[in-house]
Amino acid sequence: MSLFWRIFVLDAAGLIVAAALLLGPVTVSTPILPGEVLVVVAGLAALLTVNAVVLRLGLAPLGRLGRAMADADLLHPGARAVVSGPVETAELITTYNAMLDRLEAERAASAAGALSAQERERHRIARELHDEVGQTLTAVLLQLKRVANRAPQDLREELGQAQEATRSGLDEIRRIARRLRPGVLDELGLLSALRSLAGEFTTHGLTVRHDLRAGLPPLTEETELVLYRVAQEALTNTARHAGADRAELRLRPVTDGVELLVQDNGRGLGERAGEGAGIRGMRERALLIGATLTVSSRADGGGTDIRLRADAWTGGADTATPVGDR
Ligand SMILES: Nc1ncnc2c1ncn2[C@@H]1O[C@H](COP(=O)(O)OP(=O)(O)OP(=O)(O)O)[C@@H](O)[C@H]1O
Ligand SMILES: [Mg+2]
Repeated sequence: MSLFWRIFVLDAAGLIVAAALLLGPVTVSTPILPGEVLVVVAGLAALLTVNAVVLRLGLAPLGRLGRAMADADLLHPGARAVVSGPVETAELITTYNAMLDRLEAERAASAAGALSAQERERHRIARELHDEVGQTLTAVLLQLKRVANRAPQDLREELGQAQEATRSGLDEIRRIARRLRPGVLDELGLLSALRSLAGEFTTHGLTVRHDLRAGLPPLTEETELVLYRVAQEALTNTARHAGADRAELRLRPVTDGVELLVQDNGRGLGERAGEGAGIRGMRERALLIGATLTVSSRADGGGTDIRLRADAWTGGADTATPVGDR
């Protein structure tokens, strides 16, 4: 029955009972007698109780809908409110669920667009750094070398220092370009790229061990890029926030896919740490390839675990080509 009819029937029943009592044998004296007070109060209590029960039952689905709306999080898609209750409420819940379907689809599409634009932009900047700034610095380096060869002895030391500074600038630019565009991913494959990532983050104070199993199932190019970027952000967070001295980067095959684990022995996420652009970015990338990402602090006294489970390439017609076929 619709909410309108429920409330109407309830009100009508109350009024009809009251009218029937007034027209019928019941009389109320002035001043009212104790027996009559009892009958009126009992009748009123019964009416109010029925009213409250029917309204509570009728409005409960609205309360559930409100809670579902408050908990809705597009980065954890798939949760839907249960359709129940009177017709209007059920329609409202169905419309809300359809709206969530639409929002999730639109969000996935726009996140995919934004992330691929970001990757394109990184490629462009990396290429320009490498080709433009890198070439210019290389030319400067050669020029300095020529000048140094012809320069008087007392200038050579200074020229040598300038050469050294140029060389380290060049190395820095190559390093930045490599981070922006995981070129090793194209050239050497995922495992080498991750190995070199672990090496890059191993600095004084932090040792990153890697356990990268061979024999992984075929993965799409997109999945490899997501695994790489998630590992990169997780290790960046370890270096920036964890205060850890050890971290581990692990990639191994699991049923129907692979699991990436980045683990550190640092201070853990802490109660107040909100999710910034880095973790949200990881979640969005995971959503793009239908992978599941869990970010957690270990209970045994600190340390953070970032776990990403991604499906293997199954050869579907509408999916991207696996890396091996490129
Ligand atoms: N491995 C970690 N150990 C301890 N705290 C962490 C770790 N990773 C993340 N955090 C906490 O979680 C917060 C959110 O991380 P997130 O990567 O989303 O943002 P961010 O690193 O602060 O900024 P950015 O957008 O540059 O990545 C961090 O500010 C930090 O407090
Ligand atoms: Mg971060």
